[in-house]
Amino acid sequence: METNERSSGGTMPDSPAKANNVPILQARNVSKHFGSVSALENVDFELYPNEILAVVGDNGAGKSTLIKILSGAYQPDEGELLMDGQHVSFKNPMDARRHGIETVYQDLALAAALDIASNLFLGREERRAGLVGSLLRALDKVRMRREAADHMSSLKIGLRSMRQPVETLSGGQRQGVAVARAVSWGKRVVIMDEPTAALGVKESGMVLELIKAVKARGVPVVLISHNLPHVFQVADRILVMRLGKRAGIAKPGEQTMEDVVALMTGASRAEIAAAAG
Ligand SMILES: Nc1ncnc2c1ncn2[C@@H]1O[C@H](COP(=O)(O)OP(=O)(O)OP(=O)(O)O)[C@@H](O)[C@H]1O
Ligand SMILES: [Mg+2]
Repeated sequence: METNERSSGGTMPDSPAKANNVPILQARNVSKHFGSVSALENVDFELYPNEILAVVGDNGAGKSTLIKILSGAYQPDEGELLMDGQHVSFKNPMDARRHGIETVYQDLALAAALDIASNLFLGREERRAGLVGSLLRALDKVRMRREAADHMSSLKIGLRSMRQPVETLSGGQRQGVAVARAVSWGKRVVIMDEPTAALGVKESGMVLELIKAVKARGVPVVLISHNLPHVFQVADRILVMRLGKRAGIAKPGEQTMEDVVALMTGASRAEIAAAAG
């Protein structure tokens, strides 16, 4: 449990967590193969405190594989993971969660028939047995709904009733619930795989605002997206992946979307400009 040592050293001037140049989450030289397919080859990744880092790349570039390694769903064949400069290894998603890393997968993994409050606490409810237990469970439910409502309003997610089943929500509202759940448990890092895919303009806008709200709460975000305008709207840095490798880093304001497309496709700027017109 290397990372737990960090919290006690908060007042030291050179504490790793305080120094902004030490990545909160880092992967070094990570490779992952599936049979003969090389999904990731010697990839470096670093997420700094208080940033929104976008990960972009064509289909099959290795984005999901990378974030599955960062969230404990896959183990790398080679390479290492670090948090606050200390080695960590995640044997499963629970390990990553214990380190404060929460992931919103594209399929969201919400329980459709349960209400919003239950989804926010899914898998974390306290279990109590017996008659007294059933009374306490009822009280827990009231408390859960109140906490859920407070949490949703602190993130400016406008959902009126915490008792509404998730299956009756719109795509954007569901995304809001999934993100809110990740934010409430992701104490250190929130990772989102394609959170605006399949959402309309208004719903996407809400999710992008939510991503900024997470950052404003001091939690850095990894955003995987195919939507470059969305990426340029919120990201501080952009990690470009290509064919399982890290193609480069771009920054909105310093590079253009064309530069990013060039990195994604491996084309030179001149070729892109020629193709554009
Ligand atoms: N579980 C798996 N078994 C076999 N091959 C896999 C597996 N997961 C990923 N791959 C392969 O690894 C490569 C990278 O896949 P990955 O899902 O990471 O891409 P991606 O960048 O997330 O793509 P997309 O934008 O389409 O989501 C692909 O060639 C994919 O077919
Ligand atoms: Mg993917």
